Amino acid sequence: MQSYQEIGNKIIWLEEVDSTNNYAKKLMENGEEEGTLVLAKKQTQGRGREDRNWISPEGGLYMSLVLKPPFPVKELSLITLLTAVAVLEAIEKLTGFRCQVKWPNDLLLKGRKVCGILTESKLVGEAIEYVVVGVGVNINNSMEGLSAGLLYPATSLKEESGYEIEISQVLKEIIQDFNKYYQLTLREGWSAILKKWKENLYEVDEINLQNYLSMENEEGELA
Ligand code: BTN
Repeated sequence: MQSYQEIGNKIIWLEEVDSTNNYAKKLMENGEEEGTLVLAKKQTQGRGREDRNWISPEGGLYMSLVLKPPFPVKELSLITLLTAVAVLEAIEKLTGFRCQVKWPNDLLLKGRKVCGILTESKLVGEAIEYVVVGVGVNINNSMEGLSAGLLYPATSLKEESGYEIEISQVLKEIIQDFNKYYQLTLREGWSAILKKWKENLYEVDEINLQNYLSMENEEGELA
């Protein structure tokens, strides 16, 4: 079995930061170990994919995990899926709501975006040196301005449920589920993640589906 460092054993709590992903990347450049989690109450320059902003007022969850996964580069996008599955399960446990995964990095709740994932990595040749997985979940934060520039309008757990949910509870569940799936994947390959993803697809994306299914067929080699 691959060696494995428990994710979330070390948590760095910040009142405010530009972006937890920026902070985590600096940590990694300074030799941080796998598993550290950076958490901020708010971000002043939260980032999304394709240079979009991730508006990050207090009340949301803004976190970045640092990993040194022993996976080949072609499996990088599967780390985003693994994270999406962990967040999806955490939300379901706490609220009963089942989100859907909009490939590759969005979680939609009733067709609205409740979570975004920004996975950034440093590669050395064909190997992954490190990965920073940034997760933003709209929990109790105000919705003002959040939908700007998004393909799908934003929502939050509070907006959908009508009550506040403790951010620390959501964090705890995400860490637990992430650890469960990361360990399982290191041990047995990607089948469990791909299965969960297929069960919770927002819409069938033929190109990526076929791409991943062919990876799954090579699972023996992947694991
Ligand atoms: C997206 O939907 O485009 C991805 C959004 C990712 C937002 C999170 S919040 C924590 C981490 N820090 C950032 O600056 N971005 C990610």
